[in-house]
This record gives sequence, C-alpha cells and structure tokens, in this order.
Amino acid sequence: MNPQRSQVAIVGAGPAGLLLAHLLAARGVESVVLEARSEEYVAARVRAGVLEHSTVQLLTDAGLGNRLREQGDEHRGIHLQWPHERHHLDFVDLTGRSVWVYGQTEVQKDLVDAAAARGQDVRYEVSDVALHELTGDRPHVTFTAADGTAHRLDVDAVVGCDGSFGPSRAAVPEGVRRSWERTYPYSWLGILADVAPSTDELIYAWHPDGFAMHSMRSPTVSRLYLQVPNGTDVAQWSDDRIWDALAARLGHGQDGWELTPGPITGKSVLPMRSYVQTPMRHGRLFLAGDAAHTVPPTGAKGLNLAVADVALLAPALAALVRERDPALADAYSDAALRRVWRCTHFSWWMTTMLHTSGDPFDEQLQLAQLRWVATSEAGATGLAENYAGLPIGF
Ligand code: APR
Ligand code: PHB
Repeated sequence: MNPQRSQVAIVGAGPAGLLLAHLLAARGVESVVLEARSEEYVAARVRAGVLEHSTVQLLTDAGLGNRLREQGDEHRGIHLQWPHERHHLDFVDLTGRSVWVYGQTEVQKDLVDAAAARGQDVRYEVSDVALHELTGDRPHVTFTAADGTAHRLDVDAVVGCDGSFGPSRAAVPEGVRRSWERTYPYSWLGILADVAPSTDELIYAWHPDGFAMHSMRSPTVSRLYLQVPNGTDVAQWSDDRIWDALAARLGHGQDGWELTPGPITGKSVLPMRSYVQTPMRHGRLFLAGDAAHTVPPTGAKGLNLAVADVALLAPALAALVRERDPALADAYSDAALRRVWRCTHFSWWMTTMLHTSGDPFDEQLQLAQLRWVATSEAGATGLAENYAGLPIGF
C-alpha cells in the first residue's frame, strides 16, 4: 500500500466530481479525484445539453464560462407542441431568466482543461475503489491505480460523485439510507445528426405515437429524441424510419414548418428513471450528483442538479476541513434535497405530461394540461420557473 494524504477524496471525474475539485481548489482545499474510466471515455460521453441560468452564473463566476459564452447558444425559452398547435414559452418574459444550450461534453472538456491548468491530481483508470471508516476520525479510500499498484488515501472527507453505478451510495449502511424510485414504461431513442437544427429553440412535442424532441448541439449538429418502448433494439430503427417518425411527431408540413433530415452520427436508447437516496451525508461521506439522485432527461435537470449540489458542498467542505466548522456540512443534505425533490417532481411532471402511455383518459388529461401550460400565464410561469431553474440556495 502506498499511503498518501489529501484533504478531500472525490470518487468520479464526471461533471460533479471535477467541478467540486475546481470549487474546492478556489477555496484553497486540496483534493484527489479517482475515476474508473479513461479521460477520453469520460470526455466523449454524450448527455443532455441545457444549462440553467444559475448553472451558467456559477460556471462563469468560477472562471469556466469563456467557451460557454462564445460557443453556447442562449435561448429565451422552448416550444411546446401537440398536433396542430405549437406554442413558444418565453422564460425571459415570464421569469427574467434564460437557459443556455451547451453540451455536457463541452462542460466536461472545460473542466478537464481547468483541472490540467491548475495541476489537479486526477487518477484515471483506477479500480477497486473502497471507502473506509466513514464515521470515524480516520476516513480513507483504497484503490488500485492504472499501473496495478495498491494505494491508500487518508482524508478529512470523502465525496461520492460516482454516478448511479459507483460504490459510494452503497457505502451508506442499510438501515441508514432510504431510497425512492420510479421507472417509466418507455425509453428515449436519441440521435446526433450532422445537420443544422430545423428550429431556433428546443421543441417538446406530445403526439399520439409518442413524445418527440428536437434539441441541438451547434449550428451544424442536431440532437433529437423519440419515445420508444422499453427494451427497444436500435437495430430496429433505420435512419429512414427515425426521420419519418420525427417528421410525423414534430409536425413536418404544419404551418409551413419543415424538418430537415441529415446524416445520423450516433444512435442510442436511454432508459428513464427517477431515483433519490437520502441522506446525502453519512459521517465524513457526502454524496453529490447522480450518486444520490437520477432524473429522467425530460427537462434536462441531471447536470444542473449535480452543479447545484457541489455549489452547496464546496463551501461546506471548505468550512469543515479548514476551520473545523461543521455547520454547513451538517446542513448540506437537507439543503440539497429540497432542490433535488423539486427537480425530481418537475422532471416527473414533464415526463408524464409529454409521454403517451396508451391510456385514452390519460391522453385527454395530458392535452388539457398542455393547453393550460401553454395558454395561461400562471401555468407557463410554473414551467418556466422550474425549467430556467431556481436559485442555487433554494
Ligand atoms: N470508481 C471510480 N469512478 C467511478 C466508479 C468507481 N467505482 N464508478 C463510477 N465512476 C465514475 C464514472 O465513470 C463517471 O465518470 O463516476 C463518474 C460519474 O459521473 P456522471 O455519471 O457523469 O455523474 P455526475 O458527475 O453526477 O453528473 C451528473 O451528468 O452524467 C450526467 O446524467 C448525469 O446529467 C447528469 C450529470
Ligand atoms: C439534449 O439536448 O440532449 C436535451 C435537451 C433537453 C432535454 C433533454 C435532452 O430535456
């Protein structure tokens, strides 16, 4: 065992882990980040691409906003539609807040570059990460490095930023932890295509054949999604079948609007799940991001929630390890969970309002709800406030 010391061990180099390391470094707190995958693998993962107002503000304040403001695209709102009707919801008019379309892949790249620039200790391709003595005075993490050597890292605090499949959430003992879960009876088939978006802002479309969405990554790259049954094999969906379904569900030809197809460069099926585990703190272990909660992608809250968690956690850990002041650390789980449950509700609501289940009564309720959201200022403001995001400290 090669023993080492740091102030904080962070498991996982996704957006939660790397942003936390960045915010801690800005407060003079040293950390080591342990990541199972390679740097290239983590950088290439394609995920959602909408940043809330407060996420953009936080990244900017942290010195991570330059490329985002240059290459990202500020959107005033979204289009909400169902057959024969499309409505624009203007978040800026409704709430004074906008959103930015900037892929998570780009956020990850900015975080990796910033980590390299400050000499952040990130160990990629580690295995056997195990957390020890989390409720004692000597918490530590053991792991096997990429070269096969065994290591022990002694720290003041451990943070699980290791997503839904990492070891951290299970390190909270049964009997202490509690979890809530909802699986949905549908998935998303997502595509990336080398074609200019056919829309200025995102389109969320309800359709009797199933939900469809038109998003984008850049002026030349589109990202689109189709609701498909669970267990769908992408091989059943040829490029033509995908574009035909998108055209039908997104309303090609309606009021002169056209969907321009193009070469598909990536296809995948994503399951949809809501999951929350509490508490988000156990002794010297703190959970952040997907390690503590998963939301279905409708509404793009996953990354924004991870950012909000670490924005609360960084000052809490700094006070704990530098001044031995536990007040913010003690308050972290409850404070983070207020927002987690708000976003869990919002993501569930957007998902169940827009995806068809085959039940005719449900369909009429969905349409009634959509009409209300799109035409009542109170309804529209509720969606806008949640989509554009509540303040971090909510
Ligand atoms: N040891 C070390 N690292 C691990 C382990 C392990 N045993 N298990 C998982 N990891 C790593 C993963 O390889 C991944 O890079 O933890 C990281 C978790 O990153 P994300 O899944 O991106 O989660 P998070 O940083 O919380 O980001 C949340 O980003 O991933 C999306 O849908 C997610 O949008 C949400 C947001
Ligand atoms: C995306 O661009 O991938 C995206 C955008 C909005 C969502 C989900 C995904 O609600």
